[in-house]
Amino acid sequence: MRGVFLLALLAVGVSGIALAQTGRQEMRPEPAPGQATKVSTSLRQRIAACTACHGAYGQGGGSGGYAPRIGGKPVGYLYHQLQNFRDGRRTYPLMTWMVQYLPDAYMKEIAQYFSEQSPPEITPQQPMVTAATLDLGRKLATMGDPARGVPACMACHGNNLMGVQPDVPGLIGLSNDYISAQLGAFKQGIRRTKEPDCMHEVTAKLDGAEIGAVAAWLSSQPVPAGARPQPVGSVKFPLRCGSIDGDG
Ligand code: HEC
Ligand code: HEC
Repeated sequence: MRGVFLLALLAVGVSGIALAQTGRQEMRPEPAPGQATKVSTSLRQRIAACTACHGAYGQGGGSGGYAPRIGGKPVGYLYHQLQNFRDGRRTYPLMTWMVQYLPDAYMKEIAQYFSEQSPPEITPQQPMVTAATLDLGRKLATMGDPARGVPACMACHGNNLMGVQPDVPGLIGLSNDYISAQLGAFKQGIRRTKEPDCMHEVTAKLDGAEIGAVAAWLSSQPVPAGARPQPVGSVKFPLRCGSIDGDG
């Protein structure tokens, strides 16, 4: 019964949000018929509730362009986020509502499904910022600011910034708005992870202009063809992160 009720509520919720969309960005391309991975009927029903916003491959783009790419992100990372929305470490009422009754086993299955997807190539954004701002963003992402103890984003998010298995997400293929919102939320402690919260430590050292610059640069980068997260153990992290299993 509850399932049916939730689905009905969801249909109303999603269409309400669709109406409220700004239309800033088109929904990203859907796969051709027959391309979808084979999954059980019950899992298919569960993910249908998600692909309405996150796209059939998890490529993102719903909610006026704000719903993030989740396809191909590391499985542990996706699983932690579903738990974070459920347990209040991330606050986004709609996502909390989507996952609040999901048992861990379902969350794992859903995380596994999306981690195995390969979203199609995504056209990068062209943020309206100066060349100097983009250059500042590139420096922070690739070199950090050693004098102030800011590690390069690449030091944890991987050499091609597409993440590291199983717990560190890729940063390419996300929108400028989404990235800056997440960095701001980490900085203010609104988005949290298990302690120690390395993303809070990193963002605490960045000012608003730097957050804007790194978000703009990241969103302007194309997703390399067939890019996947780096393998487990391929990175030595410069700070401890509680969200990386076995490291906190
Ligand atoms: C109505 C649109 C909508 C629906 C439906 C929806 N989501 Fe989301 N989802 C979002 C938005 C918007 C965010 C970003 C929230 C934020 O800013 O924290 C998000 C965030 C996420 C994240 C975190 C992504 C990241 O990279 O950190 C995951 C994972 C996720 N959703 C999975 C799901 C799953 C699984 C379902 C189905 C059970 C689902 N979503 C249904 C809109 C939606
Ligand atoms: C010490 C390692 C480390 C460094 C350095 C680091 N990150 Fe992260 N970052 C993480 C981890 C771990 C997560 C996953 C947190 C979680 O589970 O919620 C994350 C999550 C994120 C997210 C959320 C992604 C999403 O899909 O919602 C963004 C955005 C992000 N980092 C941006 C950056 C930027 C920009 C930099 C450089 C200025 C940076 N990170 C530096 C480890 C790091």
